[in-house]
Amino acid sequence: MAFGSYQNEIYLNGLTGTMPRFPMTYAELEARAQNALSPSVWSYVAGGAGDERTQRANVSAFELWGLVPRMFVGATERDLSVELFGMRLPSPVLMAPVGVIGLCAQDGHGDLATVQAAARTGVPMIASTLSVDPMERVAKDLGNTPGFFQLYTPTDRELAESLVRRAEAAGFKGIVVTLDTWVTGWRPRDLATGNFPQLRGHCLANYTSDPVFRSLLQRAPEEDPQAAVRMWAQVFGNPLTWADLPWLRSLTHLPLIVKGICHPEDARPAKDGGVDGIYCSNHGGRQANGGLPALDVLPAVVDAADGLPVLFDSGIRSGADIVKAIALGATAVGIGRPYAYGLALGGTDGIVQVLRSLLAEADLLMAVDGYPTLGHLSREALQPVV
Ligand SMILES: Cc1cc2nc3c(=O)[nH]c(=O)nc-3n(C[C@H](O)[C@H](O)[C@H](O)COP(=O)(O)O)c2cc1C
Repeated sequence: MAFGSYQNEIYLNGLTGTMPRFPMTYAELEARAQNALSPSVWSYVAGGAGDERTQRANVSAFELWGLVPRMFVGATERDLSVELFGMRLPSPVLMAPVGVIGLCAQDGHGDLATVQAAARTGVPMIASTLSVDPMERVAKDLGNTPGFFQLYTPTDRELAESLVRRAEAAGFKGIVVTLDTWVTGWRPRDLATGNFPQLRGHCLANYTSDPVFRSLLQRAPEEDPQAAVRMWAQVFGNPLTWADLPWLRSLTHLPLIVKGICHPEDARPAKDGGVDGIYCSNHGGRQANGGLPALDVLPAVVDAADGLPVLFDSGIRSGADIVKAIALGATAVGIGRPYAYGLALGGTDGIVQVLRSLLAEADLLMAVDGYPTLGHLSREALQPVV
């Protein structure tokens, strides 16, 4: 797909006085999203753990690498497509799971706006367990774009199994199990306002619509929402250990991807335990502060994964960042906060502009610098910026 042609579309529209509806820089996107969101949703999305040092480091880590231009390549056509779990995706980009994405939309149905943006762009959505609309409703709008379901593994194994069964039945093409969030990290912005959306009853549709979850309650969630929230708090976080991996693996024949892997010694046994993909991420710095930028741990994780696909997120803000993560060995990357901000400003259209801009920038960078395919992007394509 010629992602770079988006810029011609924008310039040609400019000839007739039509300008892009949403900001073209990340800084402006973020600033305008702050105004568009309620203060509590803004804090929850923009904030992270501790003094947010790791969150900032995730972003600045990309500045320490530079792509070396190559000439006489004639990269007139680029191929950004990638084979992932037996599927061919038009680009190595996915939308990372964002638990309150539902609340980022002005109409409160951001999960639906997101899946509709996925259908329009071919950029898969990884749908979070924490959603405003139940996964079956979200999956209805997948179109021809494969979707993934992200599982926060509950302590109740039957409930976990039920969520996975439902995701399979709804047509999701892979299960992403998030490992780093069985307990919530220390988040001063949210603590300052005593705001934790799920405890206020938000984004629990996958639970309240689940037969196993409902069977744990004495009264239906519609009759006693408070009791449902209390039960949710009781079952939410399962502190998984390696002993749980065979059970997790047994839950599904779909590709199983483990998210939050940042150490080679965690990637190796995950591979040996039969997972299909490693997802290297530090949750955008929302969970643990004082750690390394996720980008810094990516190469060692890729080496340990030894050929298994490695997804990566945390800190991607531009097309150049996508290219650098791929060059450091990621098979595909997840976009997080940027699409949430696009959604806040313009619903599905806002997300589509953010994704198309990221892809166009990546594509044009590969054109200018002479890297026609993702296969040409290796670690040798990068040098440290001194
Ligand atoms: C508001 C918010 C909610 C999130 N919710 C989830 C979630 O439900 N499940 C999950 O695995 N990751 C969740 N994440 C983490 C993202 O999947 C991703 O790892 C992170 O956003 C990457 O960092 P970045 O947005 O700074 O690039 C969330 C991130 C944000 C910003």
